[in-house]
Amino acid sequence: MSTWELETEIGSYYERGGERERLTRNARGRLEFARMQDLLRRVLPGEGLEVLDVGGATGIHAKWLAEDGHRVHLVDPVASQVEVAAALPGVTAVVGDARELPHPDASFDAVLLMGPLYHLTDRAHRVRAIAEARRCARPGGLVAAVTINRSAGWNDWLLFQANGIDRGISAEDSLRILREGDLRHFEQDMFTTAYLAHPGEVAAEFADAGLGGASQYAVQGFPGYIPELERLIDDEEAREHLMAGLRVIEAEPSLLGASNHLLTVAEVPA
Ligand SMILES: C[S@@+](CC[C@H](N)C(=O)[O-])C[C@H]1O[C@@H](n2cnc3c(N)ncnc32)[C@H](O)[C@@H]1O
Repeated sequence: MSTWELETEIGSYYERGGERERLTRNARGRLEFARMQDLLRRVLPGEGLEVLDVGGATGIHAKWLAEDGHRVHLVDPVASQVEVAAALPGVTAVVGDARELPHPDASFDAVLLMGPLYHLTDRAHRVRAIAEARRCARPGGLVAAVTINRSAGWNDWLLFQANGIDRGISAEDSLRILREGDLRHFEQDMFTTAYLAHPGEVAAEFADAGLGGASQYAVQGFPGYIPELERLIDDEEAREHLMAGLRVIEAEPSLLGASNHLLTVAEVPA
C-alpha cells in the first residue's frame, strides 16, 4: 500500500470520470492519441515487451499496447479507473502511486509516465517518480514521460476568449499560470491541479533522477492548436500530411514548447 496521497481535488476529478473520453471526444484528443501511438511505436525498444503504464487511468494506451503484443501492467491511484483497466484483455492493473511503485527493480522493458508528472506540483516528487520509473526499468530499457508544456493553459485561455467562452479564469490568472506553471485551485471541470513545465525543466528532472541525455518530442506540435483541426483530421489525405509534418518537426528544439504535450524519453543506463 502506498504511503503517498493524491491531492483530493485530483482524485475526485478522475473519480468523476473527467478524462474518460478525452482522447476520442474531439480532434485535439484524436491527434494526441494518434501521435502518442506513432511516437511510442517508434521509441519502444522492441516487440513483446513488459510495459509498465504508470498513471494509465482506464487503460486508453494500455489497450492498444496489449493489442500490439506487449504485456502491459498498469498502475494508477484512482481505484475506479484501475477497475476498468483491469478488465482489458492482456492488461493487469493495480492501485498505486508513481512515487512508490509496487514493482520490483529492473522488472520492465519500458516504464511509461503518461500523466503523473504533470499532477505532481512539487519538483522533488516529480524527480522521485522518474527515479522510481528508472528503478523498475531494466538496464537498456526505456523511461518515457508525458508533460504538459508551460504555454498550454494560456493558449487554451486565448482560444476560449476568442470564442467568447468564460471558464471563470481571469486574464491575470492566465498570465500567472503562464509565468509560474502552477495550475492550482483550478475550479473548472475542464482540468484539475497540474504543473505545466518547460521542456528544459523536464530534461533537468530526468537528469536529477539519473537519466541524463533524454530525447524530447513535441506530441501535437503547434498544429494541435489550429481551431480548424477537426476538418484537417477528418480528411485522410490532410491527416497523413499533418502526421508526416509533425514527424519532421517533433524533435526541433526551438519548437518543443509550442505543443500541448511533450514526450521525454531516456534509456536506462547499464
Ligand atoms: C490525464 S490522465 C492520463 C491518462 C493516460 N495515461 C493518458 O495518457 O491519456 C492522468 C492520470 O495520472 C494519474 N495520476 C495522477 N497522479 C498520479 C500519481 N501520483 N501517481 C500515479 N498516477 C497518477 C491520474 O489518476 C490519471 O489517471
